[in-house]
Amino acid sequence: MINASKAAQRASMNRALPPALFSGLLAIAADAVIAVDEEQHIIFFNEGAERIFGWRAEELDGQPLELLLPQRFRAMHRGHVQGFDAAHGQARLMGERQEISGQRKSGEEFPCEAAIERIVMDGSTVYAAVLRDISARVRAEKLLHQAIKARDDMMGIVSHDLRNPANAVRMLARSIIEGEETPPLSADVLERVSVIRMAAEQIDALIQDLLDITRLEAGRLSVDRRAVDVSSLVYRSVEAMRPLAKSSGVRLTAELPEDVVRAMADADRLQQLLSNIIGNAIKFTSASGSVALKLRTTDADVLFEIADTGEGIDAAQLPHVFERFFQAGTSNHQGARNGAGLGLPIAHGIVEAHGGRIWIESSPGNGTTVRFTLPRVDSAPTLP
Ligand SMILES: Nc1ncnc2c1ncn2[C@@H]1O[C@H](COP(=O)(O)OP(=O)(O)O)[C@@H](O)[C@H]1O
Ligand SMILES: [Mg+2]
Repeated sequence: MINASKAAQRASMNRALPPALFSGLLAIAADAVIAVDEEQHIIFFNEGAERIFGWRAEELDGQPLELLLPQRFRAMHRGHVQGFDAAHGQARLMGERQEISGQRKSGEEFPCEAAIERIVMDGSTVYAAVLRDISARVRAEKLLHQAIKARDDMMGIVSHDLRNPANAVRMLARSIIEGEETPPLSADVLERVSVIRMAAEQIDALIQDLLDITRLEAGRLSVDRRAVDVSSLVYRSVEAMRPLAKSSGVRLTAELPEDVVRAMADADRLQQLLSNIIGNAIKFTSASGSVALKLRTTDADVLFEIADTGEGIDAAQLPHVFERFFQAGTSNHQGARNGAGLGLPIAHGIVEAHGGRIWIESSPGNGTTVRFTLPRVDSAPTLP
């Protein structure tokens, strides 16, 4: 927005523009600047127009403007010009940029952005047009859409063709472990089969994460929000993580309010979120450390807090932990800890889809605390 005094200043400055400077500017403009008379005959064609359309200015002197338009648009253009004349006095409206098609001397059609202005000079009307060749941009956008579609198609193939065999391996391994084989399998074989099962579970989890991040980026991560008993859900999530905490020598505790806490949430997504965050807390905490989950309520929200006494995150890396594929630390053992740096970006996406907030406090040596909120379901006030 230009204020009145600025506009006046600009008008007076531009009035002082010497004709030589004016034509110099038109000569170096990257855009095509074209003027036609009332009969739509070309009377001005700058260097930019020569480059874009491939015609020399003298070839077009006095020629109909239609030469610069694809055949199929010519009739429509004539109609536009008449409409433009009819809208006398509203020429300013026509100054807005519009996307149209131009035609080069070679016959090649190209997309361009155009702004047209009607100028009355000494009683006669001149139309001035500024056109910008946007074919490079349109091409880049098309390539980008193709690339996104190719990626989504690939993710679809991954989801079906890779998940199925991973699931088959997992289920067969489970049936071997749980089945009563005769003669009984040795402890050593059972141990190896459970490694196979865990590897298949990891593959499945990674595929699931890749699919989620793709959905998230495409704005397709949907959550089915219902009133959920968060207290029991948290309890179940914590119990599900207990074996991992135990095998890592990490103490895992949960502190829940006495009253049942309810939030508007997608139970499956909330479970996924909690196992991601509790999983991280256990993963980055060494033996004899602890992970403590606390659930609280505020007026409008349910607040989840997961605090660990682990290694913490460097201040320089902390702002990046919600970026996809980001993993803090440069230690070589990072890869061996399994994970692809997708857990937190997905957690962020899930919380946002619920209309909540997620944030992290951390420093090396002091552990990490992840907090997030979900909108609370107000329990109906009960009469005494
Ligand atoms: N509780 C935590 N303690 C220390 N670092 C953490 C913790 N949670 C996350 N991080 C850091 O943030 C990074 C990203 O986390 P995440 O997206 O879950 O990826 P991943 O677990 O696959 O490495 C982790 O690699 C780690 O560097
Ligand atoms: Mg993780």
